[in-house]
Amino acid sequence: MKKNCYILANWKMNPATKKEALALVQKIKKELPRVQKTEVVVIPPVLYLSPLREKFKSVLFGVQTVAPDDVHAHTGSISAAMAKSEGATYAIVGHSEVRSAGATNEVVGASLREALKAGLVPILCVGEKARDHNGFYLHEIKTQLEEALAQVPKTAHDKILVAYEPLWAIGKEALREATPEEFREIAIFIRKVFSDIAGVKVATSMVVVYGGSVDEKSINPFLEAGANGFLIGRASLDAKKFVDIVTLAEAYYKPKK
Ligand code: PGA
Repeated sequence: MKKNCYILANWKMNPATKKEALALVQKIKKELPRVQKTEVVVIPPVLYLSPLREKFKSVLFGVQTVAPDDVHAHTGSISAAMAKSEGATYAIVGHSEVRSAGATNEVVGASLREALKAGLVPILCVGEKARDHNGFYLHEIKTQLEEALAQVPKTAHDKILVAYEPLWAIGKEALREATPEEFREIAIFIRKVFSDIAGVKVATSMVVVYGGSVDEKSINPFLEAGANGFLIGRASLDAKKFVDIVTLAEAYYKPKK
């Protein structure tokens, strides 16, 4: 069943040891309130997936990327089926850091197809490198979506989560966080592109989350702007910040007394 809000922790290449990874989930679990409206997903480096999964049976996990096919001569890669069999539920697909290492829209689409085929819930990342006055950034996002969706059967379009992550807002080098208004514009645009490809029903019910320098202070304005959740890098490595984010998201959707 769909949740109101998706809080997705993208740990990237952190923490440095398995011990720290176990301790971080332990800490989050201890502090985390009971949630009903919010889906909380921890997306660690793939090496930590099995030990985390074994220790924390009630936590949902994901992987940060999957191979674009299931042919086995792929040094350094893991297939979507492997991720699934090790206990992943979600898979990030097309994160900008993977795209900058050479994944084209076509490759991202193929990873999307593999994730779906394996029964993982894909989080398809899209986002422009820079904003320009001519609206070329909209074209960039449209192409990312169209070329990825082209690789996937139409019947699977309603299983895809989309994360809008403008490159200029991500990581330590971020210029700034996007504004809630900027997010709202793109979220509407993403739904429009989906509507043309997958139909209105999919476009209106799909999940669109925001990512890029999110912390506990940014949550509410983005939820008000229509974000269905967040893909969180740095702030997800701080148990307190992460728990605060989940608590705020859950409170936003809880019926007010
Ligand atoms: P950030 O990363 O929250 O550290 O900006 C987000 C992401 O790249 O997914």
